[in-house]
Amino acid sequence: MTPKDFDTLVHSRRSVRGYLPDPVDDAVITQAVQTALWTPSNCNVQPWSLHLVSGANLRALGAAMIAQASTGQPAPDVPMDTAYQDVFRSRQIGAAKALYTAMEIARDDHQGRTDAFLRNLDAFGAPHAFFVFLPEGFGTREAADLGGFVQTLLLALTAQGLGSCPQGALSLYPDLVRDHLGLPQGPQLICGIAFGHIDPDHPSNTARTDRAALTDILTRHPA
Ligand SMILES: Cc1cc2nc3c(=O)[nH]c(=O)nc-3n(C[C@H](O)[C@H](O)[C@H](O)COP(=O)(O)O)c2cc1C
Repeated sequence: MTPKDFDTLVHSRRSVRGYLPDPVDDAVITQAVQTALWTPSNCNVQPWSLHLVSGANLRALGAAMIAQASTGQPAPDVPMDTAYQDVFRSRQIGAAKALYTAMEIARDDHQGRTDAFLRNLDAFGAPHAFFVFLPEGFGTREAADLGGFVQTLLLALTAQGLGSCPQGALSLYPDLVRDHLGLPQGPQLICGIAFGHIDPDHPSNTARTDRAALTDILTRHPA
């Protein structure tokens, strides 16, 4: 593989929010997870575990989360209450604008925005989703390792020609997820990853994001 090949792989991954219903071959899913296992982590503790939910089971879980969203407040294991300011707020607005423009949802279309948000909880109709857990008691440093694992998994899925979307939204109702899957309290639900075959006709999939300039994030110090 050349550096250019790797650059092409990284650039061909983007968040996909519309899927075909066809399931992904189980061997392909296994291969992607096998690749992601090789993510580095502090002292090789590998602070991550996955639950794979598919098909009708995923639709039932999504329906339960959508019902919960209309009656209860989110209670994620790790709070999601950072109010982004300054450049971070601008980037957040830029990403939302790209998505809503692609979906032709106007700024004042509150129902349209609510409906678009609720699609998150059904994993955007994907045939599969991973639910990604951090072990009990682990904090920011181990969560950073988990982030690396998620990116390796996303790239492995991309290399298989699949679409994917990491989703904090799938971690908003962790007790419901645990109830549905029969999981114990303890491990912290950090995010979900919707994945499957890309629906080329879904308008959300035409959205494109950009990135900061290199000079905004890289400071070079003299040798
Ligand atoms: C940890 C994490 C959580 C995310 N949560 C959501 C989410 O809940 N819903 C969503 O539509 N996109 C979510 N995204 C996708 C980001 O919006 C997306 O990565 C970003 O806008 C850059 O776009 P790109 O992935 O197409 O390059 C999440 C991404 C990450 C890494």
